[in-house]
Amino acid sequence: MAKRTIVYLPGDGIGKNVLKEAIRVLNAAGFEADYVHADIGWEFWCQEGNPLPQRTLDLIEKHKIALFGAITSKPKDAAAAELSPALQNQGLVYSSPIVGLRQHFNLDICMRPCRSYKGNPLNFIRRGAGSSIEEPEVDVVIFRQNTEGLYGGVEWSNPPDKVYEALMTHPKFVKNFSQTPREELSVSTRIFTKKATERILRAAFEHARNYGYKSVTVCEKPNVIRETSGMMYKMAQQIQQSDYPEIELWNTNIDAQMMWLTKNPEDYGVIVAGNMFGDIVSDGFAGLIGGLGFACSAQFNPDSGIGVFEPTHGSAPKYADYPVSIVNPIAMIESACLMLDFIDENTLAARIRKAVAEVIAEGKVRTYDMLKMPGRPDVVGKGAASTTQMADAIIAKLK
Ligand code: NAI
Ligand code: MG
Repeated sequence: MAKRTIVYLPGDGIGKNVLKEAIRVLNAAGFEADYVHADIGWEFWCQEGNPLPQRTLDLIEKHKIALFGAITSKPKDAAAAELSPALQNQGLVYSSPIVGLRQHFNLDICMRPCRSYKGNPLNFIRRGAGSSIEEPEVDVVIFRQNTEGLYGGVEWSNPPDKVYEALMTHPKFVKNFSQTPREELSVSTRIFTKKATERILRAAFEHARNYGYKSVTVCEKPNVIRETSGMMYKMAQQIQQSDYPEIELWNTNIDAQMMWLTKNPEDYGVIVAGNMFGDIVSDGFAGLIGGLGFACSAQFNPDSGIGVFEPTHGSAPKYADYPVSIVNPIAMIESACLMLDFIDENTLAARIRKAVAEVIAEGKVRTYDMLKMPGRPDVVGKGAASTTQMADAIIAKLK
């Protein structure tokens, strides 16, 4: 097979540290690729007024597959203040390059697996009968609709005339909100389209079938949010009945799901949700398997074959300039495995996951988060592995 070219997007802060280590692991596993560096993040906002330059979009368009570390984001005003003097006061408005990537390439499928590794001291445990302690095995894959819903960006404060008039056609708006002065109103919409809803549902069912999960759970709130959540659940019922009869369809409300999270996490398989609830439920499950050092994600568009693979964590600026990097590279390495799965290099992905599992099970090499240490620069002297040492341990298992 022709050698692949992977777009390399380190971004900011610890994104650079973890991506570097993930590439070493990919190389050690025998993945043959060229990496082309692309610009993204804070530096490019400050210097060029754009954290996601067109040349980066062009590279991703051309090569299709990108590995991404993390970026730093700041609120609008703080961002404007950090622009280089030449770019100040030109009306440039900061917006997150991750959201930009999702929208530009319509990366509408976000997949976040949460699988516990045996021997991870951060695994969730609970009290069992008597004085027993149980450590449930979590193996959940969350499919989050990545482009619409409450994060779709269609929102107003002090809504303009036409929007206000439209709202006034709804009896509940008239009853509950028409007495409030318009300038005291903020409105964020939650728009679901049938097309995108069907795509995320089908992606979830397909994954359940291909990877042997017995159930797909729609995690929304259809009893209250009748139109959007209601549509998603109804469509899930139809798709399940017509095309995936062997897979059970479950339905949970997001609030109850967060309560059940710690009660019976081992019962769930694939979970599918809209943008915001998917964000929430995936962070919830990630907490059970070790948190940000372990939470990986894939975002892709099955039609174009474009995919961006990244850890869920951010750039952790506090940790970025330590003389020796201490953050856990596993979330990034796991994200690289999702990339391998996506390009049908499943055997390589399985090899790397096995190596990670062995290092964790052995328990000799652990980053500061796994040792529950405060994340200070001196943790390496106190027995914690550095970012590089953790990658080295994984590489040693690949040999
Ligand atoms: P963060 O995820 O960067 O860090 C929060 C805390 O989690 C860190 O202080 C550290 O204690 C821990 N942590 C994160 N990654 C870790 C790892 N690999 N190993 C061990 N511990 C780890 O979130 P925070 O501090 O809220 O945001 C920092 C910056 O990152 C902000 O500018 C934010 O906008 C941005 N961000 C970017 C994301 C992305 O690029 N996808 C996602 C989340 C935040
Ligand atoms: Mg989140």
